[in-house]
Amino acid sequence: MSGSVRCLIAGNWKMNGVLQEAIDFVGGLQENASPEHVEVALMPPFTLLHTLNARLAEKGVVMGAQNVYYEPKGAFTGSISPMMLRDCGCHYVILGHSERRDVIGENNEQLRKKLDAAWAAGLEPILCIGEHLSERESGATNAVLKSQLAILDSVPGNALLTVAYEPVWAIGTGKTASPEQVTETHAFIHDELKRLGCDCRVLYGGSVNPSNAAELMGCVGVEGALVGGASLKAVSFMAIVNAAAHEFG
Ligand code: 13P
Repeated sequence: MSGSVRCLIAGNWKMNGVLQEAIDFVGGLQENASPEHVEVALMPPFTLLHTLNARLAEKGVVMGAQNVYYEPKGAFTGSISPMMLRDCGCHYVILGHSERRDVIGENNEQLRKKLDAAWAAGLEPILCIGEHLSERESGATNAVLKSQLAILDSVPGNALLTVAYEPVWAIGTGKTASPEQVTETHAFIHDELKRLGCDCRVLYGGSVNPSNAAELMGCVGVEGALVGGASLKAVSFMAIVNAAAHEFG
């Protein structure tokens, strides 16, 4: 259900980056930034999509957005439609990031509508799931992930999809899940996805950096990373890409 390359390293810039920073970033990427066996993608803010499209493509980097609205057009001030993202050159769209679930209050019902709208426009959603620290500590991780994945019930067989497991307590904190936690949780997610008929790629996200990328990418069931802070600089982003290339080569 995911793209043909099994490993994806995707940079989520969140609400960071203005034009000059983006141009400097692309200038700092190596010539072919997507090595064999690894696909590289960048999700800059909406404001940079149009400008970055051709520049990223020249470096072999696929582009995505960080959110989308589910209506195709009309009186929805401030919203961006799936076709608008396609028009800017996006292949991916991040959906259900914990910052949108927790800060903006996005819920499962809205997320399923967004998934369907993204698929209808030919976008590949990267659906983020993950538990809070209190949920991990109380042993509720699998139940939380199962309820977040439940929106994948009755997904069209040909739908493009990637899932990103991002434990909320590991996002932007410098803490990462241990290799044992990552392996065990990814195994649960893969089983659940198979049960739902969505056998897709599963990324890990949460404080991935050049020092821990090789270990995390080496965990069974991990097929890439969704990178926040370390994707803002070309040097650290490329170091993660190259660590993945080593693991998946
Ligand atoms: P950090 O890599 O900054 O922890 O962010 C992870 C993330 O939220 C990516 O979507």
